[in-house]
Amino acid sequence: MTDPNPAALDFLLTRRSRPGKTLALPVPDDATLDTLLTAAARTPDHGKLEPWRFVVLERAALERLAGLARTRGEALGLAPEKIEKAGQMYDQAHLSVAVIASPKPSEKIPEIEQTLSAGAACLALLNAALAAGWGANWLTGWTATDRGFLSEGLDLKDHEFVAGFIQLGSETSVPPERPRPDLAAITTRMRA
Ligand SMILES: Cc1cc2nc3c(=O)[nH]c(=O)nc-3n(C[C@H](O)[C@H](O)[C@H](O)COP(=O)(O)O)c2cc1C
Repeated sequence: MTDPNPAALDFLLTRRSRPGKTLALPVPDDATLDTLLTAAARTPDHGKLEPWRFVVLERAALERLAGLARTRGEALGLAPEKIEKAGQMYDQAHLSVAVIASPKPSEKIPEIEQTLSAGAACLALLNAALAAGWGANWLTGWTATDRGFLSEGLDLKDHEFVAGFIQLGSETSVPPERPRPDLAAITTRMRA
C-alpha cells in the first residue's frame, strides 16, 4: 500500500455539486481553469485515444447559445418550459466548459468505452473544480445532443456530442445534502 491521502478521501466522501443557478462571479481565470482542465485530462482513457475535448464557453458565447437554444427549441416545436429551461442554463452561467464526447475510430476500443471515458472526464473536471474551492455543476439537457444546436452553436462534428456542460463559479449558498444511495442495496459481494 502507498501513503494514504486522507484529505483526498475525505473530499470524495463529502463532495457535492452546487446548483448552476446559484453560481456567481468571480469565475476561475484562464490559468486557474487550465489547472482544472489538466486534472480533467488525466482521466482514464483506454488506448490513449483522447475521445473527448473541451470547449470553454465565456459569457458572450453563453449569451449567443442562450439565443440559439430559444430559436432552435422553437424550430423543433419543443414545449415552452423546455425551451426556457435550456435558455436559462446558458443565461445564468458565467463560465461553462462543454466536455465534448469525440469518439475515435478504433478496432480495439469500443465506442461505449470512449463514451464512458467522456463521462469520467466530466466528473474529473467537476471534482477538480470543487476540490479547488469553486462551485460547479454538471448539466446537459436537450441542447447537449441536438444536432442542429451542436453544429451551429458549438461547431461539433456529426459524431460528437456534449457529455456535459460543467458550470463553474463562486458558491453563493450551501445546498442541502442530497440523499445518497443505500450502499447495501446497490452492492453485491461475491465471495466465491
Ligand atoms: C450526465 C448528467 C447530466 C445531468 N444534467 C443535469 C441537468 O441538465 N440539470 C440538472 O439539474 N441536473 C443535472 N444533472 C445532475 C447534477 O449534475 C448532479 O448530479 C446533482 O446536482 C448532484 O450532484 P452531486 O452528486 O455532485 O452532489 C446531471 C447529471 C449527470 C451525470
